[in-house]
Amino acid sequence: MTEGSNYDYLFKVVLIGDSGVGKSNLLSRFTRNEFNLESKSTIGVEFATRSIDVDGKTVKAQIWDTGATLHLAGEYVARSVPYHLILRLSRRWRLLILSPQPSSWPGTLPGNYLCVSILRLAPVFGFDWCLMPGTTAAQSVPSLVYDIAKHATYVNVTRWLKELRDHADSNIVIMLVGNKSDLKHLRAVPTDEAKAFSTENGLSFIETSALDASNVEGAFQTILTDIY
Ligand code: GTP
Ligand code: MG
Repeated sequence: MTEGSNYDYLFKVVLIGDSGVGKSNLLSRFTRNEFNLESKSTIGVEFATRSIDVDGKTVKAQIWDTGATLHLAGEYVARSVPYHLILRLSRRWRLLILSPQPSSWPGTLPGNYLCVSILRLAPVFGFDWCLMPGTTAAQSVPSLVYDIAKHATYVNVTRWLKELRDHADSNIVIMLVGNKSDLKHLRAVPTDEAKAFSTENGLSFIETSALDASNVEGAFQTILTDIY
């Protein structure tokens, strides 16, 4: 639910990337300082918020975690990632609504919204709006996450990036995040390679570990400072 408007700026950070790269754990580490070794694959979309201070201003970050199921549901959903909204029907059930027109976000329902799907079949009662505190349009910052120990997840970043470039605002800030930096002995993606790729593609880049917490704070701080 809305937490009031006790912030100066609101940003949405959308975590995107292959299943298992650690998106949910980056979210839980940043917003609750928690890590789970046996986390389950996310169904649909989850989000959590945390406010941080940037130059004396309160910047509220709404972190969106897009789950594997959403990815599996195919291209269309992936494309719409920054532009959907979710109604929380109850503690467990969500209604996912996608906007066909990014510019209509965060318009009012029913308006221009399309493609409604219920995540985890919902009981109808206990309807509860759960997104977009206030009515301010929040700038959306996609973060592409890969696993430094799984090369395929890095290769797929190119795919995610293409999706974003095709469908998102061209001057949008995009962050590349190489997660699981604690797995040094298993590293499959050299830091220099990812750095060079980022420079070529105009991304900001950081390596993190949700497990030992290194750079997690830094990653979000960088994103929020960059766009603020
Ligand atoms: P989906 O929800 O399926 O898209 O996956 P996800 O990207 O949310 O991955 P999740 O956060 O569930 O993490 C997958 C597995 O990787 C879990 O077993 C985590 O404990 C583990 N993991 C996540 N982050 C790290 C990390 O920084 N280091 C290590 N060693 N393991 C991690
Ligand atoms: Mg997840």
